[in-house]
Amino acid sequence: MNVELYNQSLSSIVADITIEFVTPAQLESHTYAPLLSMAKFEGKSEQICLLHEHTLIVCGLDDESNDEYRMAMTSVIKALQNTNYTSAKLCVPKEAYFHAALEGILLGGYSFQDYKSKPKTPSLQTLFFAYNSQYDFDHFQSILNQTLIISKATNFVRDLVNQTPYDMTPQAMAVTAQSLADSNNLECTILDTNGLEDEKMNAMIAVGRASVNPPRLIHLAYKPNNPKKVITLVGKGLTYDSGGLSLKAATSMVTMKMDKAGGCAVMGMIKAISELKLDIEVHAFVGAVENMIGGNAYKPDDVLRAKNGKTIEVRNTDAEGRLVLADVLGYAQEYVKADYIFDYATLTGACMVALGPYTTGVMGHNEELKRSFVDAGSFAGEYCGILPFNRQLKKLIKSDLADVCNVSSKPYGGAITAALFLDNFIDEDMKDKWVHFDIAGSAYTESAWDVHTYGGTGAGVRMTLEWLMQYCK
Ligand code: BES
Ligand code: ZN
Ligand code: ZN
Repeated sequence: MNVELYNQSLSSIVADITIEFVTPAQLESHTYAPLLSMAKFEGKSEQICLLHEHTLIVCGLDDESNDEYRMAMTSVIKALQNTNYTSAKLCVPKEAYFHAALEGILLGGYSFQDYKSKPKTPSLQTLFFAYNSQYDFDHFQSILNQTLIISKATNFVRDLVNQTPYDMTPQAMAVTAQSLADSNNLECTILDTNGLEDEKMNAMIAVGRASVNPPRLIHLAYKPNNPKKVITLVGKGLTYDSGGLSLKAATSMVTMKMDKAGGCAVMGMIKAISELKLDIEVHAFVGAVENMIGGNAYKPDDVLRAKNGKTIEVRNTDAEGRLVLADVLGYAQEYVKADYIFDYATLTGACMVALGPYTTGVMGHNEELKRSFVDAGSFAGEYCGILPFNRQLKKLIKSDLADVCNVSSKPYGGAITAALFLDNFIDEDMKDKWVHFDIAGSAYTESAWDVHTYGGTGAGVRMTLEWLMQYCK
């Protein structure tokens, strides 16, 4: 979709159809009020009325807010994608809502067609925004450019997540990372099993051992001159999570191609950061692994020695993400001295139990840092909720045999005990600079909500970009 900003009045722009937003209060004074009322249009949130005879589409807005604009624009785009109109025009909203309206277009209009024998290509190609001269044109243009980059990166993540485990293996993720590095001028280092052995990343190796698709550690780096901050991003890249020998039930296994979403998200983030040319040095690490069964599979009862030397008693091979992250966090901290380290992982079903299926769980030791992410998420259109650590929960992952156990001894609070497990692999000097994001609920959806269509959502990308732009200036 092309989105263009014009320094012209709406009436002087030529397009097939005009888009308008109406709040219930504005409805009575609308030019076509009688027609809209005949169509039982009430101006409610996400409600659409297409007046073909007037080449006009009207969408309801409960009130003026980012959420309303994002959802309204999504409804409009979806409705127009079912017509033969090729272009549409509308007035820019207030500056504060412009990025949200753009996200409705760029994210709400996304659909993944790669596995369809007859892919649908919507006729709608171009959207013209008429700029209102009371605002600063250059500022609107920069919001447009920025939102385009971030939305494209989000859709890049969705494309990766939506690919099947047959297509998007750990090797394929590494190839994708290398081509992103080539096109965006990033440094790229890939470790194969031999490299992982040299680095003593035994936990990650154990998880991937029974797969015919061997693991890869991906390290992408964006290094501008004189960066203001150094940021490390770590992503769980389980290209498939069968559960291993602690095999998942048939119905829980479906959708587990999405277990790579954290890894895909950090690749999308570094793509956007490099295209926005932010003044931050960024390192993205992905542990790309497939968790399968086989004669050489790792087992409940195994004890693994992670990269930082700590030993882990395995009691459930389905708690594999934390094992991979233990080693990748260890590797990332050894090679990069960062100001902050953030990890993204579809880590626990328990996070969905705690927060519902739309919200990212935010965990760590630094209260202010966690809160700043919740605020950034809220502005950027992502739901985030803080799950608190406490010393009682920490006791639940003690092991009688090794230093720590990979599962909790009690069935509640699983998202937090998983994060407390990761805490064992965060160096002392990084404790307050670390945030863990559990995106198990927010990274994938099988029913459309907000700007999200079926499949990967790109969770983490918009929130993190907003945070970086606010706090690393
Ligand atoms: N990848 C899953 C978590 C998950 C579940 C993500 C559902 C998205 C949707 C993770 O590896 C896992 O299986 N976790 C277990 C942990 C348990 C064995 C302690 C879980 O959540 O059941
Ligand atoms: Zn698992
Ligand atoms: Zn998993």
